Amino acid sequence: MNHWQEIEQKYYMQTFKRVPVTLVKGQGARVWDEDGRQYLDFVGGWAVTNLGHCHPAVTEALIEQAQALIQTSNQFYTIPQLRLAELLIENSCLDRVFFCNSGAEANEGAVKLARRYGKLHLKGAYEVITTMSSFHGRTLAMIAATGQEKFQQPFVPLPVGFVNVGYNDIEAIKKATTSQTCAVMLEPVQGEGGVNIPDDNYLTAVQAWCDQTGILLILDEIQTGLGRLGTLFAYEQYGIEPDIMTLAKGLGSGVPIGAILAKDKASVFVPGEHGSTFGGNPLACAAGYATVKFILEHDIAGNARRVGQYLISQLEKLRRKFPFITEVRGRGLLVAMVFTSDIADSVLTACLDKGLLVNRLKPNMLRFMPPLIIGTDEVDEALDILDSTLASIKV
Ligand SMILES: Cc1ncc(COP(=O)(O)O)c(C=O)c1O
Repeated sequence: MNHWQEIEQKYYMQTFKRVPVTLVKGQGARVWDEDGRQYLDFVGGWAVTNLGHCHPAVTEALIEQAQALIQTSNQFYTIPQLRLAELLIENSCLDRVFFCNSGAEANEGAVKLARRYGKLHLKGAYEVITTMSSFHGRTLAMIAATGQEKFQQPFVPLPVGFVNVGYNDIEAIKKATTSQTCAVMLEPVQGEGGVNIPDDNYLTAVQAWCDQTGILLILDEIQTGLGRLGTLFAYEQYGIEPDIMTLAKGLGSGVPIGAILAKDKASVFVPGEHGSTFGGNPLACAAGYATVKFILEHDIAGNARRVGQYLISQLEKLRRKFPFITEVRGRGLLVAMVFTSDIADSVLTACLDKGLLVNRLKPNMLRFMPPLIIGTDEVDEALDILDSTLASIKV
């Protein structure tokens, strides 16, 4: 165990099963450890570094902003916050935004907003329908929203007001809808739950049901948004428009920021009902503005779509070569590879030794979520490593 691993074991809450590497530097799609070893990064800060590590457009904006103004209170107007608000709203189907600091906090705010809407327009309805295998964050309410037993069970009793139903099952949503329901909350493609892609008509059916019953549709685009699936927002690919959408992860290129976006009809907070000390501060919003502007101006979503198709086609070749790969699935640059047995940890360790970082999503599943700026060269490099690793792995 090296020095930093000992410090971690002694002082840090033991909440993470870490990979034994101490990273000190990142640039583009590469990171370096403290011994100067280089890795190709297909984890991307957990689907965060959409522009790669330390992109100059973001670091320059951060330096400039850090020298000017880092924090005020939301009592005052600040320019980075309002520039980012305008950019997001002008490039989405939503009308208003609120900034916070993380994905879980954005989802909490979205659920508060839906409850407020329920009080005002749905006779006090407060329940939110979410799906099994979803992931919405680690706060108490968001683990109640997250339809996964392993996250919920250690912390029961959980806050009330959430009903978890089967994913990709419109009838289950219809059955769970009562006079107490104020919203349905979904990830367009489930990320943490296994890169689960819905049937073509599922999301349109959910939206039609929400419209018919007058309840709100909340899309959690924390992992799928900001170009990850090959369009700026995933909802564009499914021909739907959420009433409320949440963002975080890729929004600040690694500077913590989350956002709740809502249609005018659902923007029902009045002064005093929601807030955040750091949310929307000038530093985080300068990073957000530089990030979103670059994504838009350089068609980063288009690159994710094209390179993602290439990645999937190359992974399919590996699937045909190695019978223990059962499936490759994904959209854009959010892709999973499924094995017949629990070899994901061994594959991860062997890839690490060869200089490639991948994510073990489940014991039998790897996930690839590289920066969206990568090219086919980097995919080839990663796939060479993966190919030789899979050839040597004992199944
Ligand atoms: C879809 C989705 N929602 C919410 C979250 C929680 O975000 P955060 O970790 O920033 O609270 C995540 C994190 O992985 C996520 O993937």
